[in-house]
Amino acid sequence: MQKDAIVYIFLLLLFLGICISLCYSDGLICYQCADSTSDPKKAVCQNYKRLKKDRINAEKDGKMGRYFKNCTDYNETFCVIELIMSRGDTFSYIRDCSDGKTFSIELNAFKNLAADNQTTCSYRGDGYLACVTLCNTDMCNGPTGGVTYHVISKLFMLLTLTFCLLFKRFDILW
Ligand SMILES: *[C@@H]1O[C@H](CO)[C@@H](O)[C@H](O)[C@H]1NC(C)=O
Ligand SMILES: *[C@@H]1O[C@H](CO)[C@@H](O)[C@H](O)[C@H]1NC(C)=O
Ligand SMILES: *[C@@H]1O[C@H](CO)[C@@H](O)[C@H](O)[C@H]1NC(C)=O
Repeated sequence: MQKDAIVYIFLLLLFLGICISLCYSDGLICYQCADSTSDPKKAVCQNYKRLKKDRINAEKDGKMGRYFKNCTDYNETFCVIELIMSRGDTFSYIRDCSDGKTFSIELNAFKNLAADNQTTCSYRGDGYLACVTLCNTDMCNGPTGGVTYHVISKLFMLLTLTFCLLFKRFDILW
């Protein structure tokens, strides 16, 4: 009887693990937000702590955060950070999904950018400075360091497997 219960729990865990991996393994999630201020009190998108809080809350609830965007819904495969400055002030600061080709300011320097987290900056003739950072992993255009969906599902699978091996070893499971 007890043995049966353990088998059922194990199967349930395995099923959940597979479901979670399938639900979350595809698609790219990026931060989406925009600022047009240099004032740190008003800035949201430049406010690392605020985004991080959003992310931590979202992960706790297992939901999409307020500043999350599912790029796969838009057929976009990159995350981007765009910073546009004018006379030393932030004109706009954007985090979003990207096709890797189209940016708010088109400059030669932004052609064929690699998604390597490196920031490329270039001046436009009229005194605007534009910087673009491209990357292609979940939430890479903002605070990382938390646990991503993919890692959660992998951890879950690992845990289940460990349980499985442990029980097998003690001849509880089969
Ligand atoms: C993102 O969108 C894709 C395609 O619509 C979907 O398969 C995927 O599950 C979504 N991811 C999340 C975390 O909602
Ligand atoms: C994404 O691509 C699919 C297939 O190519 C297409 O059917 C869909 O309309 C596209 N979605 C957007 C938002 O462009
Ligand atoms: C870019 O940064 C993200 C988040 O820190 C990291 O997961 C990813 O591996 C980096 N990509 C490259 C090419 O360095």
